[in-house]
Order: sequence, then structure tokens, then C-alpha cells
Amino acid sequence: MLCGLSFVVVVLATSAAASDSPNIVIMLMDDMGWGDLGSNGEPSRETPHLDQLAREGLTATSMYTAAPLCSPSRAALLTGRLPIRNGFYSNNTHGRNAYTPQNIVGGISASEVLLPELLKTRGYTSGLIGKWHLGHRTPYLPLERGFDYWFGSPNCHFGPYSDVTTPNIPVFRNASMIGRYYKDFAIDRATGVSNMTKMFTEEAVAFIQRQAREGPFFLLWAPDATHAPTYASLKFHGTSRRGRYGDAVRELDAGVGAIVNALRDANVDNNTLVVFTSDNGAALVSKEEGGSNGPFLCGKQTTFEGGMRAPGIFWWPGVIAPGSVTHQVWSQMDLFSTALQLAGITPPHDREMDGLPLAASLFHPDHEFFRPIFLYRGDRLMAVRQGSYKMHVWTWSTPTDELRRGINFCPGSEVANVTTPQPTDHSIAPVLFNVVLLEAMFAHRAKLRRGEPQLNWCDPAVMHWAPPGCEELGECLKVPASNPTLCNWPH
Ligand SMILES: *[C@@H]1O[C@H](CO)[C@@H](O)[C@H](O)[C@H]1NC(C)=O
Ligand SMILES: *[C@@H]1O[C@H](CO)[C@@H](O)[C@H](O)[C@H]1NC(C)=O
Ligand SMILES: *[C@@H]1O[C@H](CO)[C@@H](O)[C@H](O)[C@H]1NC(C)=O
Ligand SMILES: *[C@@H]1O[C@H](CO)[C@@H](O)[C@H](O)[C@H]1NC(C)=O
Ligand SMILES: *[C@@H]1O[C@H](CO)[C@@H](O)[C@H](O)[C@H]1NC(C)=O
Repeated sequence: MLCGLSFVVVVLATSAAASDSPNIVIMLMDDMGWGDLGSNGEPSRETPHLDQLAREGLTATSMYTAAPLCSPSRAALLTGRLPIRNGFYSNNTHGRNAYTPQNIVGGISASEVLLPELLKTRGYTSGLIGKWHLGHRTPYLPLERGFDYWFGSPNCHFGPYSDVTTPNIPVFRNASMIGRYYKDFAIDRATGVSNMTKMFTEEAVAFIQRQAREGPFFLLWAPDATHAPTYASLKFHGTSRRGRYGDAVRELDAGVGAIVNALRDANVDNNTLVVFTSDNGAALVSKEEGGSNGPFLCGKQTTFEGGMRAPGIFWWPGVIAPGSVTHQVWSQMDLFSTALQLAGITPPHDREMDGLPLAASLFHPDHEFFRPIFLYRGDRLMAVRQGSYKMHVWTWSTPTDELRRGINFCPGSEVANVTTPQPTDHSIAPVLFNVVLLEAMFAHRAKLRRGEPQLNWCDPAVMHWAPPGCEELGECLKVPASNPTLCNWPH
């Protein structure tokens, strides 16, 4: 089956050269669910710009993230490799999700090659507008890893903090902090009002205006308003039928419209591939501040469909046929390989890649390809999807002690023996058993070379006390004594 796949890719790759070094814009939402888009059936229909993008482009109904939460998912998108290979996991406790809170010691390993680093070899300029989440200590920051411009934050906009026991999260421009959330970049926790999405949109439009004349560019637009605590500016505040979460979606949808208009105004729309997706499924655990996974089971933190199936829209006028739909299984790691393919860059040969170059599928969405994708929770392979089959070799929903605290990743959607509160091994008789998938899993396991885990160690001394640039602002805080401990990962 895999031989058939490479045949299709090789034969059709020639037609992928529709344009030399196209610009690439990836719009990566934070915790936005598959079911939040009008074009995917959200009944309030509050995403007119996204719905138009879908009408003018290609909808991929089976777009999977590489992890059911933010940091490892983003690390996989930018490396084309599963977190288990690129090191964005922890083995402190098997099968638990790890990410990059502000006391994390690690970040994206220097031995990984990131998409903007490779694009630079063909003259691309890369900008990140929004959240990074691949490690906040200096060697891990975006400008150290191939990005030429950054406006945004290394972490989620949690807070406000006292700056005594916990520092507030910094906002950066390029390599220096320019302020902190809640102090210099306001988010009103009581009302949910903030100008951050407006700023992320204006920054993206300005980046396009600057770069459109300068040669090819890669823009990763990564606003985080749909991650709790959700927010929107006054213009959108209180305008949604879906409450505060819906206000955030409406403002992001307007941002999509503004960015697409900027591409049109700069006359680069027919030379730009735009991809819209999200870093994981909706966070049902956030209740009214969480989104919708449509018909899919459970949400963020789980390897059920609601945890890892994300919106997928591809737009490229004149190249992608309007209104096309594909049900083929896409992984966000394919965006890495497909971007390289479109830019005419050879992917790294010295390591196992998980992404596939799928440009041909953008132009010929009916072409079938069969490939398994491997769904992990932390260091544990939980499930495999291929074609119309999904096999769960482990199941786990919300840990029992978290359920007692009111945390629930599968509210209102219990399925006996499937949404198990204990990690449950089904490898003898997988849920939805299928022979083809078992063989794929054995081959994957046999070849797997695990990356060194980067997310094992936590230390209060590495928190955002004194980020680069704090001297100029007079915002350096006293760094406490170092006390490295194995991080505690409850999920
Ligand atoms: C986790 O990985 C580290 C580094 O590879 C290794 O030294 C350690 O033994 C592993 N721990 C467990 C519990 O497997
Ligand atoms: C950010 O870095 C880019 C690329 O080096 C540079 O052109 C730009 O002037 C910098 N912007 C600021 C505000 O420092
Ligand atoms: C948000 O932007 C508006 C103008 O669009 C301004 O009036 C308001 O003061 C800003 N709010 C904050 C908190 O910066
Ligand atoms: C893009 O549009 C311009 C102006 O309409 C046209 O000259 C050019 O050939 C188009 N390029 C592609 C790749 O379609
Ligand atoms: C769940 O699994 C148990 C054994 O672990 C079995 O007895 C029971 O019938 C299963 N229930 C369902 C609904 O499959």
C-alpha cells in the first residue's frame, strides 16, 4: 500500500509545481474544535470568512493533529515528526501528556530541523505571529529556530500572576520581551475583553504587506483567543450566540478575512497556499469557555476523535478547485512535508519523517492514499487510523482523581470500555480490531527510534523572571534558587 502511495505522489508531484516557491500561510488556532466552523455544520453560522474560504478552497474533513494538546502538536507541525521522535514528550509517567508550562526546563531539541530553517535555504522569510510553546528559554525561542520575525508569547496567556510566586507571561517582539500579559498587554479576566486578537491580526497583515514584494514568505499565524481564558475585543464582545467563546471565534474569523484580503491587496493571493487548522480538538474540559468537536467523541487531552481531529481548509485561488472536499487522512505533519515540496526543498534524509508530501492531493482531492497515522498520548501509542478504520490499543479518558475534581475530557459522552478512566490495555483485542492496522503498528514500533525526552524536568528558576529585554524595561524579577524536579503530569 505504501508503494502505491509513493507512486501517486511521484507522478502527481510534477503538477504541484503550479507556481515557483509559493508563499505559505498556516493559520493555527488554539483549542478551536472541528465543530466550531459553519462550514462543518456549526448551527449558529458565525464564521462567514471561514465558510467562504472553504467554498473557495478544499476542505479536508480528516485532518489530524500529532498530539491531543498544544506544545507537542506544534513541535510536530514544525518538524514533520511525531513528538515521540522529536522529544516533545515525557516518560516520567507513561501515557501522560506533557507540554511547556513556564517552569519547564526543556524545549525543542537543537538536533531537530524546523520548517522555517529549511525554507530559509530557498530564500523564504518566516514570521510567527502569536503563541510559540516550543520552550521559552533563550536557545529555544523562535528567532533561534529559523523565524525572522516574531510578535507573541512563548506560553499561553494564563494569569494574572503576582510576579512574586509566579511571574506574568512575557510578550516578545523578535528576540526581546516588550511587556507582560495583564500588565502591559491587557486581558480583563472578569469581562473577557482584550485587544490581543486585533493586534495579532494587524501584525499578520503588516507582515504580508512588508514581505509580499520581498520574495517568498512563510507566515505562522497562531492567535490563542479560543484557549481559556477566552477573550475578544470590545467590537466582538457580546456579539455571539455562543457566549464568550463564540465572541473569540467571531473575531478570529474576521482576522481570517483580513489576512486573506491583505493577500489579495498585495496581489499574492494566487501565489499563496493558505491552510486553516487548530493545534488540537476543542477543550471540552473548559466547559462554556471550550468549543465544539461536532459529532466526535471527547476532546483535548484524549486520542479519541474529538481530541485530535481538527478543522482543515486549504485555499489557493487558481490552483485549488473551489468547493473541493477530501476525506483522506491528513496529518498536520504533512503540512511540513508539503510546504517543502512546494518550495522545492528536499526533506532531511538522516531521520524518520512522519509527514508526507501531499501537494498532489490539493489539486486532485479524489486521489486515494493509504497510510496509517499513529495517535500518541505522551510516550504511549494509543491508536492507529488508516482509511476508514481506527484501532485503539490503549484507551484512557479522564484520570479518576481528576474526575473527582470536576475535570472531564469526555463530558456527557461515556462509551463503555472505550472512554475508560483508567489507562486500559487492549493490545490483545484492540477496540475496532483490523489486521491491516495491527501490521502497520508492528512495523511502526519495530522502526521507532525514540527522541531523548525534553519535557521531564521542571524548575522554578527557569520561569519568566528575567526574559531577554527585561533590563531595558526595568521588568526583571528576582530569580529564585534552582530546584530541578521531575515534572508532574496529571493527564
Ligand atoms: C526516561 O528516559 C530517560 C532518558 O532517556 C531514561 O534515562 C529513563 O530511564 C526513562 N525513564 C523511564 C521511567 O522509562
Ligand atoms: C525583527 O527582526 C527583523 C529581521 O531581523 C528585522 O527586520 C526587524 O526590524 C526586527 N523588528 C524589530 C521591531 O525589532
Ligand atoms: C483596545 O483598543 C481600543 C481601540 O481599538 C482602545 O480604545 C482600547 O483602549 C484598547 N484597550 C486596551 C486594554 O488596550
Ligand atoms: C496570478 O495572477 C496574475 C494577475 O492576475 C497573473 O498574471 C498570474 O499569471 C497569475 N499567476 C498564477 C500562478 O496563476
Ligand atoms: C467491558 O469489558 C468487560 C471485560 O473487561 C466485559 O465483561 C464487558 O462485557 C464489556 N462491556 C461492553 C459494553 O463491551
